[in-house]
Amino acid sequence: MQVKDLLRTEHLSRAQVETLLATARDFAKNPLSANTALANRTVAIYMTKPSTRTRLASESAVAHLGGTPIFIRGDELQIGRGETISDTARVISQFASALIIRTYKQSDVDELGASASIPVINGLTDEDHPTQLLADWMVLTEKFGDDLTGRKFAYVGDGNNMANTWLILGAIMGAHVVIATPSGKFSVSQSIIDRANAIAAKSGAKLEISHDPDSVTGASAIYTDVWLSMGDSDDEKSERVKALTPFAVTPKLMSLAAKDAIFMHCLPAHRGEEVSAEVIDGEQSVVWRQAFHRRTTIQSILYHLTRGGI
Ligand code: CP
Ligand code: NVA
Repeated sequence: MQVKDLLRTEHLSRAQVETLLATARDFAKNPLSANTALANRTVAIYMTKPSTRTRLASESAVAHLGGTPIFIRGDELQIGRGETISDTARVISQFASALIIRTYKQSDVDELGASASIPVINGLTDEDHPTQLLADWMVLTEKFGDDLTGRKFAYVGDGNNMANTWLILGAIMGAHVVIATPSGKFSVSQSIIDRANAIAAKSGAKLEISHDPDSVTGASAIYTDVWLSMGDSDDEKSERVKALTPFAVTPKLMSLAAKDAIFMHCLPAHRGEEVSAEVIDGEQSVVWRQAFHRRTTIQSILYHLTRGGI
């Protein structure tokens, strides 16, 4: 089904992901190959949470397509004074050719997508981070080739938006994905697991939910993320550190992975918490390549969606 927006990872099919990745590969080789696609047009980027990579990648992607980004901080719109999401979406649709939104509630992004006449792209919510996982999948295919059959990919750490997105994209792509989190409140929610399993039943993906960090054994990639995400309460920090310390990616945990394994992290990272400095700064780490592909993939998403959908 053609999609107008990229509101949730689960709205993408495998064929759509492959189209997006193919165009991103072109933009990696020749960043200016479509440098008039958004000529004389604007893209609004509205963020109510901080961002380094997603903001810079989005603004650069718009510039590479010949457009002008309009960056709007969370406190700058009338939404803070009671204007509705739906009215805001209609107004932004008068000026911009697309809207990239980073915020807390997934339902706010869904509502923006429903009310805007322009494409709306999820730049991270508490539940999902589709543009990140597309960049990550670029790196997986660069490293291991297009056929990922027989390889296992492990996410280890907090059961947060990144864990959710790994499960869903892994399911769409028919991959073997292991998610290792503590049990209880820092695990992935049952509703995400159910949705991922429903997709996997059709795609043939193998999804494993584990509470044992050693289940990364034999993985071709070990991925982790911060233990305290944007929006999580600082009051939980010590409880999180206690529950998540066994899931830290140390040289010992990396030694369980396949010989050619890579280490991945969406960044920002906290050395000495979820990952050891030796791992993230070591030879197996591909974190800077992941950051590079944030631009190529967002450029691809914008290119396709502003031409009428994927
Ligand atoms: N990985 C990622 O989304 O980074 P930012 O929070 O800096 O955008
Ligand atoms: N889980 C992190 C991801 C940052 C890119 C957060 O939401 O803060």
